[in-house]
Amino acid sequence: MLSKRDNDIFTKVGPGTPMGELLRRFWIPGLLEEEVPLPNSPPVRLRLLGEDLVAFRDTNDSIGILDNYCPHRRASMFFGRNEECGLRCVYHGWKFDVNGDCVDMPSEPAESNFKDKVKITAYEAAVRGGVVWVYMGPPELTPTPPEFEWSNLPADQRSASKRLEECNWAQAVEGGIDSSHISFLHRNLADLKAESPKTLHQKYAGQDRSPSFTLKDTDYGFLVGARRSAENDQHYWRISQFLVPFYTMIPPVLVKDTDSRGSGYGGHAWVPIDDENTWTWNFSCNPHQPYPEDRRGGGLEEQLDAKYRPVRNKDNDYELSRDMQKSVNYTGIVGINTQDRAVQESMGKIVDRTAEHLGTTDAAVIAFRKRLIGLAMSLQEGIEPSEAAHGYWYQVRSASAILDNGVVFDEGAAHLLAATGK
Ligand code: FES
Ligand SMILES: [Fe+2]
Repeated sequence: MLSKRDNDIFTKVGPGTPMGELLRRFWIPGLLEEEVPLPNSPPVRLRLLGEDLVAFRDTNDSIGILDNYCPHRRASMFFGRNEECGLRCVYHGWKFDVNGDCVDMPSEPAESNFKDKVKITAYEAAVRGGVVWVYMGPPELTPTPPEFEWSNLPADQRSASKRLEECNWAQAVEGGIDSSHISFLHRNLADLKAESPKTLHQKYAGQDRSPSFTLKDTDYGFLVGARRSAENDQHYWRISQFLVPFYTMIPPVLVKDTDSRGSGYGGHAWVPIDDENTWTWNFSCNPHQPYPEDRRGGGLEEQLDAKYRPVRNKDNDYELSRDMQKSVNYTGIVGINTQDRAVQESMGKIVDRTAEHLGTTDAAVIAFRKRLIGLAMSLQEGIEPSEAAHGYWYQVRSASAILDNGVVFDEGAAHLLAATGK
């Protein structure tokens, strides 16, 4: 549980709020590269951390992220003309480049130097891994973007997709790091009856339905190790990553091998659109080989509309089927991502954490809150978050492994958790 004050600090992300200031110290996934595909292609609306913005790709292939509101009389730059190296407001023709400089002001006399005095807010952008990253913090503190392995792989070895989630970002992250819900929310009723498990994961997860969780702080966040009994004095470990401020990596499924060397893995980012809406990103990659053609563009289990809103959404109760809930799966809702979104949105736009009752399995949720609120309050005292300045700390993977009893999980799996390994 959190006090009302801490819940506000934790969840609010607008300019000037403690958490908003913290998140502005990080590069954040802003939009898919496909949304601004070509030089001079149409500008698109973008809302991040409560700010209305417009993104466009200019004639030189540079991406501009500008304030939505023209500094003249505040018309939306979304209606602008993407012209030779700049975006021109259609109201009176003022034109701005990707740096926010006003490069043409045809409505003023030619001898006027007014245009040299006017700027539009512009944020820096970087393209990596099919994603346009945005940095909205103080320019003098601009770090390098995080070195996620997937973002540096060739296009046929990675995928990124996003969808709208209609609630606050923090409760979505909490769903991502709360591994104990998997045995309930995502339970497939047919699995319980499976006589011969097809994978090692199914075998051990079926034998031991209440894993014990161990948390371990890292420079960039923390590890969550879920331990289940295996045979021969061994344990089956699934090791998830949480990376500040809003990333997770989910352990690969063990099929036959006794560790996840050679496997691909995936993860999420929950990027605040504003206090009440979130972009839920799915990332996946295979560092070892290209995906088969039919598995590219992963994370597409959910149908989305043109604005990346899932077709199964709160307006239709996520197409819940009570019949299916009796015989097929625990929720009666199709798809893991949809199941997650259903419960996260069901808590209300911003969950009232003064009214919750946390139990022993909520340790990761508590660690996440402590870390983020701690970083936000430290920043208020002038202490910069070192995670933002160390992009190379993010070169890690999630992992699964069968380890001998007594082995410390992050030591036994260290070679699997480093993204520099094979
Ligand atoms: S409002 Fe944009 S040029 Fe006048
Ligand atoms: Fe989930």
